[in-house]
Amino acid sequence: MRIVVTRPLPLEGLFPLDGYEVVQHRFSPGAPEEDQLIDIAQGADALITLLSDPVTDRVLRACPDVKVVAQYAVGYDNIDVAAARARGVVVTNTPGVLTEATADMAFALLLAAARQIAPADRYVRDGKFSRWEADLMLGAELNGGAIGIVGLGRIGAAMARRAIGFGMRVCYCNRSRANPSVEQKLGARFLSLDALLETSDVISLHCNLNASSRGLIGREAFARMKPSAILVNTARGAVVDEEALAEALRNRTIRAAGLDVFEREPAVHPGLLDLDNVVLAPHLGSATRATRLKMAEMCAEAVRAVLEGARRIPYRVA
Ligand code: GLV
Ligand code: GLV
Repeated sequence: MRIVVTRPLPLEGLFPLDGYEVVQHRFSPGAPEEDQLIDIAQGADALITLLSDPVTDRVLRACPDVKVVAQYAVGYDNIDVAAARARGVVVTNTPGVLTEATADMAFALLLAAARQIAPADRYVRDGKFSRWEADLMLGAELNGGAIGIVGLGRIGAAMARRAIGFGMRVCYCNRSRANPSVEQKLGARFLSLDALLETSDVISLHCNLNASSRGLIGREAFARMKPSAILVNTARGAVVDEEALAEALRNRTIRAAGLDVFEREPAVHPGLLDLDNVVLAPHLGSATRATRLKMAEMCAEAVRAVLEGARRIPYRVA
């Protein structure tokens, strides 16, 4: 049995695959195109993929031996799940283990955006810090404000818990209302997206990317937000219309943003790059050593279960 891993992963996490042939690839630079993926996946029984790998119907058709695609991420919008299902290919992901790490990243971006940490660091490095001043780089205060969580899943709830610790009120929107015990624990108010956009001081995105969330935060959404609003996106870049965001930040339609993900990743809209009121990170949500190791183990366990014909496949999404 041949298992193809599309990028080097923490190898020690792949111990459940001891005894199998594991081939690790390294694309340089950047992410593979469909054809490259097809090329390296020839003869593979299993694929361990990253969120930048286009696992399309065409790729699956060209690799008929593949029985499982184990995605090294919680989001799997890069995989044509319907096509996988139609071909009897199992799809798995890595839920749960990256929840706290990703919420940490979202909160780090929020604090950085609210208190201008990145421009402040550049200011000091540039030798501009000549004296303490009463009005130097004044930021936004989180305490007493409202955070609007778009998508109250595991990560959204973990973000809400952090916000509560900083004295914020929580509201959320979601495809369906959370159960009362979750709402109660977070003191979270269920709102329509429009109401959330209009009343939140911080808007943090935690939904997955699908047909209804693509471009959800565009011109119209920015027009609804408070001029003091801070947007945080650690979900998927394409939930936000980046052109509209750059315009909203430039015109101060909103105050600031913190982004870990981009609409055309790894490309970043050039309009964002010279703005000081946005802080940018290269998709680091789950990037702690412990989490990345656990994610590798989960992929390996799922692959092993499928290849061994186990009745129950862990972390299965399709
Ligand atoms: C990261 O973005 C993930 O989906 O795990
Ligand atoms: C991801 O783990 C989520 O459900 O938010």
